[in-house]
Amino acid sequence: MSNTLVAESPLSFFSRRMMLERPFETLVRQLAPTWSRTETLAEVVELRRESPRATTVVLAPNGRWSGFEPGQFVPVTFEVNGVRTTRCYSLSEAPRRGRLHITVARHPQGKVSRHVHDHLALGTVVTLGEAAGALVLPREPGPVLLVAGGSGVTPMRAHVRALAERRALEGVVLLHDARTEEDLLFARDFRALTLAHPGFAYLPRTTSGDDPTLRLDAARLATLVPDFASRTALACGPGGFVAMIEAAFAEAGAGARLRTESFTAPMAAAPPANAETRTIAAPVALLRSQVHFNADGRTSLLVQAEAAGARPKSGCRMGICHTCTCTKRSGTVVNLLTGRVSSEPNEAVQLCVSAALGPVELDA
Ligand SMILES: Cc1cc2nc3c(=O)[nH]c(=O)nc-3n(C[C@H](O)[C@H](O)[C@H](O)COP(=O)(O)OP(=O)(O)OC[C@H]3O[C@@H](n4cnc5c(N)ncnc54)[C@H](O)[C@@H]3O)c2cc1C
Ligand code: FES
Repeated sequence: MSNTLVAESPLSFFSRRMMLERPFETLVRQLAPTWSRTETLAEVVELRRESPRATTVVLAPNGRWSGFEPGQFVPVTFEVNGVRTTRCYSLSEAPRRGRLHITVARHPQGKVSRHVHDHLALGTVVTLGEAAGALVLPREPGPVLLVAGGSGVTPMRAHVRALAERRALEGVVLLHDARTEEDLLFARDFRALTLAHPGFAYLPRTTSGDDPTLRLDAARLATLVPDFASRTALACGPGGFVAMIEAAFAEAGAGARLRTESFTAPMAAAPPANAETRTIAAPVALLRSQVHFNADGRTSLLVQAEAAGARPKSGCRMGICHTCTCTKRSGTVVNLLTGRVSSEPNEAVQLCVSAALGPVELDA
């Protein structure tokens, strides 16, 4: 009887390992739902209704979570009606060991925010990206001004709580504009902090629906915070609100003191006047997912890739979070927000705000 040793092919060795490891991973997941070798997973451990339209989700991440700074946001992937869907949310509490807080405002037609508000259950496991964002304060910021519009108060909450913990809240001004009293999120908390830290000024304002005469403008900003231009300032809110604050600081010659972030795109995804977009039918190849489609030269590559059945990673879908960034192997694309054209091979492009200007190969 021959005793020939047949070498196992790499493929069958791989499949055997997979067959052995799959049940092991499933068992571990049952015991520890956020365990993963590759993904940053987090379990929903608390749900807190902040107002009729906003819910705080407290998450316990696994050991792969690498932390954040107050003011940053995190891409969170929820499963909504069986589809993994990612959105960015600012962390709304100071960094605490083992817990992350996000506060989600419900949009009447919004896919994820309605799901979070109406259906999210304790024990659900979500996937996290890495914390990112430039809405952070320098270590020694001097006098600080925080300006928030609507749910843009969430990153400011993390700052205020972190500054309070460092006993550095004296001299800080927080200006919050919201439509109604109910939308002044965390108002009770902020008021309590003004008692504990008398040098902290909390200036909540309600703009009562859509009355434009009540909205914050440069003149009102100067009245409410006369020394605004000499402060280190952060602003967050809807695109138009943030643009107004930027204009006020620029006019006062203090643009460099201000950092901003918006939860909504500064403008609709229409190409700027200087973008050389035109209606075309350019073949696009997603090399890793092996998806091919014809781009129209105007619609974002992300939207068109999804329409073609691909599922590239995405977060904000408006050029802020970089979750959708991938390498363009060849071809020319235009950034729909800035008009910048990328034609060199191997450049990083953001799928959500880029349109093809000809045949393109993407490492996606
Ligand atoms: C950096 C960053 C930080 C953020 N931080 C926060 C935060 O802390 N808290 C927070 O609440 N949000 C935050 N956001 C916004 C958040 O990422 C989502 O955009 C928001 O929750 C809406 O997602 P959605 O899936 O519910 O809405 P989507 O389904 O994506 O819809 C987006 C908008 O379109 C409207 N819409 C959708 N479908 C229709 C339709 N058929 N007809 C008319 N209108 C429609 C929705 O009402 C909504 O206003 C942040 C965004 C960014 C980029
Ligand atoms: S999805 Fe956020 S930059 Fe593209």
